[in-house]
Amino acid sequence: MTDPLTAELLGLALEAARQAGELLRDGRPADLGVAATKSSPIDVVTEMDIAAEKLITGFLAEHRPDDGLLGEEGASRSGTTGVRWVVDPLDGTVNYLYGLPSWAVSIAAEYHGETVTGVVAVPMRGETYHAVRGGGAWLAGGGPLRCRAAAPLDQALVATGFNYVHAVRSHQADVAQRLVPRVRDIRRSGSAAVDLCDVAAGRLDGYYERGLHPWDLAAGELIAREAGARTGGRPGEPASGELAVAATPAVFGPLTQLLDEAGAWHD
Ligand code: IPD
Ligand code: CA
Ligand code: CA
Repeated sequence: MTDPLTAELLGLALEAARQAGELLRDGRPADLGVAATKSSPIDVVTEMDIAAEKLITGFLAEHRPDDGLLGEEGASRSGTTGVRWVVDPLDGTVNYLYGLPSWAVSIAAEYHGETVTGVVAVPMRGETYHAVRGGGAWLAGGGPLRCRAAAPLDQALVATGFNYVHAVRSHQADVAQRLVPRVRDIRRSGSAAVDLCDVAAGRLDGYYERGLHPWDLAAGELIAREAGARTGGRPGEPASGELAVAATPAVFGPLTQLLDEAGAWHD
């Protein structure tokens, strides 16, 4: 059973993600351009990333003014309740910029440092995924999410992502090159949150990426784990910016082993 605080946080995350998803889907300007760049010239921010973060942080501040918050586009405040929101207002900005449908709103709530609920809305699919710690993962308006049944690594469909910094992505390409002959195939959706939910929904056997930030990972990792997937980093380590892996229990061990051998945890 979900405790009242977690239930409240889940409800707020669902409503904030719904509103931000609608804003992004219905309010996308036809002439959308790049508002700013971050880690490199291809790491872009649009006016809609900023508008969506403003909507989410305003909504959360109105309902729970004393919580902490970390948002990708700069929202940051420390709270006094033990709750911290971790928000990626638009995960998959490059897809959104180009009019591709794989983008998401990702909102997680931590309680004393532990993720207790996560919501990922994927408006162009009409899907919202959510989970609470220990309570399973769900497709809103649908049923419980379950990751795929066992497949050997050479039958696994594995997604990954590439960092915006060229020097980093060039080593990531070497790692992917080592992986391609060892798996069924690889995918690059352009949204870490969507990839993690696709592992949860049984649409992928695994996903890995180096260089993720807490807002990319927090909600989707909980959703994947609650759907029965294993998540982590280097063998024996938790998922982090160094390396994040989510996969079915059968694929997780051999995949992390292979990634470790390929040096996926360093640049
Ligand atoms: C990015 C996406 C992408 C991943 C990058 C992330 P953004 O997030 O999740 O799939 O490969 O590492 O930074 O910039 O679109 O929010
Ligand atoms: Ca992101
Ligand atoms: Ca983002």
